[in-house]
Amino acid sequence: MLRRLYHDQPESFAFSPANLKWAEGQITKYPEGRQASAIIPLLWRAQEQEGWLTRPAIEGVAEMLGMAYIRALEVASFYFMFQLQPVGSVAHIQVCGTTSCMICGAEDLIGVCREKIAPKPHQLSADGKFSWEEVECLGSCANAPMAQIGKDYYEDLTAKRMGELIDELATGAVPTPGPQNGRYAAEPLSGLTSLKEFDSGHTKHNASVQLANDIGDTVKRIDGTEVPILTPWHDKGARHQPAAPTVKLRETPVDIVAESARLEPEDAAKGKAAKSKGKPKQDNTAGPATAPKTVKAKKPAPAPTASAKAPKMKKEVAGTPDTGTKPAALKAARKGGRTT
Ligand code: FES
Repeated sequence: MLRRLYHDQPESFAFSPANLKWAEGQITKYPEGRQASAIIPLLWRAQEQEGWLTRPAIEGVAEMLGMAYIRALEVASFYFMFQLQPVGSVAHIQVCGTTSCMICGAEDLIGVCREKIAPKPHQLSADGKFSWEEVECLGSCANAPMAQIGKDYYEDLTAKRMGELIDELATGAVPTPGPQNGRYAAEPLSGLTSLKEFDSGHTKHNASVQLANDIGDTVKRIDGTEVPILTPWHDKGARHQPAAPTVKLRETPVDIVAESARLEPEDAAKGKAAKSKGKPKQDNTAGPATAPKTVKAKKPAPAPTASAKAPKMKKEVAGTPDTGTKPAALKAARKGGRTT
């Protein structure tokens, strides 16, 4: 699906003082020179502040992290969690349209969105409260069809239930996320058929639904009351510094091509060792299994030559079938066994 920047962009972007402090704290989680690793939380915070991810916000975050703007845009345009255009003020509904959900009725859910919200994806509803889009698999295939509404999953949907969810959200209510058909999680609808001993001790909701209920941010944007993501070292004025490495690293990178060329194929076929420094000397009288005298590091063993004398053990294995000698212990009758 093509994801482009919105045609109508604001002039500028700036984090609020609280969000700026939060963003600076997140950056200190990463070592000097690796600040770009904070790109996703910072873009997310910017989106939560603005309602959607604007071009100035993407540029501002890239600047904070010392990244090329295009790198930040690559991240923002890759993940469906980032909304590159305005979304409904109450909820943006992301209907999974991938195989499992499609087979189980995703197109009916999209039909409801077209009817109740707007004919086209990313269009706002007439009252500005809702928007919708089709997205790729959200990883809840065992509960297909499903949709992500705000930050939570609504699973085992039907067209009827999808319509009800939109109506409930429009009134300000937040329907309980999770399976909408009475399933606890992803077990068979008719109940467990195996592992039944694990069917006891259920709480009212499965763990993820319970967490969603407890946090209560399904369709709520960050407003300072959410579960905090703490950076206590930053709050104390300290800058997080990674520990100095205890292993001395090479100053120049290893030339992998040169390393792999140390044993040339022709030489290997002749049973010769590599010509490079530290090559093992071939001892023709000792046979190929004799360890080269000069090898200290791991070296590939030279291939055996046709004339080379194979080690005794190898000859026995590779030669005529070994009829074997019956071990002496087997000549005696086992206790309780047959005597011959
Ligand atoms: S196919 Fe819809 S969640 Fe995977």
